[in-house]
Amino acid sequence: MQVSHKYDRELGYSSCILVPPARKVPDLAEDARNGILTPPRSLPPKYFYDGYGSKLFERICHTPEYYLTRTEEQLLVRFAEAIMSTMQAEEILELGSGNSRKTRHLFDACEKLRHLCTYAPFDVCEDVLLGAADNLRSEYSWLEVTPLLGDYHAGIANVPKANGKRIFAFLGSTIGNFDPDAAIRFLTEIRECMHPGDGLLLGADQVKDPAILNAAYNDQQGITAQFNLNVLRVLNRELKGNFDLEGFSHEAVYNEALEQVEMFLVSKKRQRVRLEELAEEITFVKGERILTEISRKFTAQGLHAMIEAAGMFVGSHYQPDNQYFSLLLARSGHDCGPRSGIEAEPD
Ligand code: SAH
Ligand code: TRP
Repeated sequence: MQVSHKYDRELGYSSCILVPPARKVPDLAEDARNGILTPPRSLPPKYFYDGYGSKLFERICHTPEYYLTRTEEQLLVRFAEAIMSTMQAEEILELGSGNSRKTRHLFDACEKLRHLCTYAPFDVCEDVLLGAADNLRSEYSWLEVTPLLGDYHAGIANVPKANGKRIFAFLGSTIGNFDPDAAIRFLTEIRECMHPGDGLLLGADQVKDPAILNAAYNDQQGITAQFNLNVLRVLNRELKGNFDLEGFSHEAVYNEALEQVEMFLVSKKRQRVRLEELAEEITFVKGERILTEISRKFTAQGLHAMIEAAGMFVGSHYQPDNQYFSLLLARSGHDCGPRSGIEAEPD
């Protein structure tokens, strides 16, 4: 097992387990070569999250327009005890855990239930992972935290074995950042890693009034815009690029037909950009766009269909009165545990 050590002035020495990819994953150079040299241009979303990007994402979560985090957190406050007592899990493995803030409600529930579990946050951003692990260890002295660093998409089959039943947590509607086929493929891979009694706790955003969705991805303070533009900073740093961040603008629009918010960086003018590391130059015409992210929105029915297409079934579906967001507890279809029905949880 490979371990990454890092020294930080505030945190001192800390370490994560490096989770190797189970298949070859393209690096940024390859993704950029395939994605942005020629139209239609796009980039995979994981490159948003360098240390600075993760900080910006935390600020997005606190904007008044971004209801997702608050709504999901309220569901966790309300249902964490039910989730933990149903699952009786020994480990929570969280994919794309970020600052792990919402996950604490599961640990609070453990305390109330006097049930011990361990926590394995899995993220691609080492800074956010180490910060979260440090906070959790000081807040929950009983909690054993094993940070896992890597690409959860390519590495899920390589995570260290759990000592007992495990909850795979995938929160924040990150599943919405996968296109429909990729989402089912990824959920299928999660299911293939499940043992009898394991569960998937999935957070997903619901279809709603486009005005609310458009506002959530176009906050007034412009933090989402900065977050989107940060990917150009990453390209500049990693591929010796000369993107002028002033030369691009953030665009996020809800596509009603496809039920997804689409995030772009739009070239404000005709311009040339060099990526030294690729020995390439790109010419952008005015108005030309790079697709940086999709964020799909789901109906309850669509979520159930997706879970079932991945070979799982929904045990509980928690949602608020306004049906803004869904928290699903699913199990593998091969699991012989009792099926608790798929009806919506009463409020
Ligand atoms: N779950 C948190 C964070 C969501 S943002 C929340 O709900 O607030 C998405 C998180 O996934 C970020 O922390 C990002 O660093 C991580 N991430 C994105 N793509 C990833 C990948 N391919 N592998 C591992 N982590 C990834
Ligand atoms: N998973 C988050 C979502 O789909 C990611 C996200 C929020 C995001 N705001 C963003 C990604 C802005 C890119 C740009 O809501």
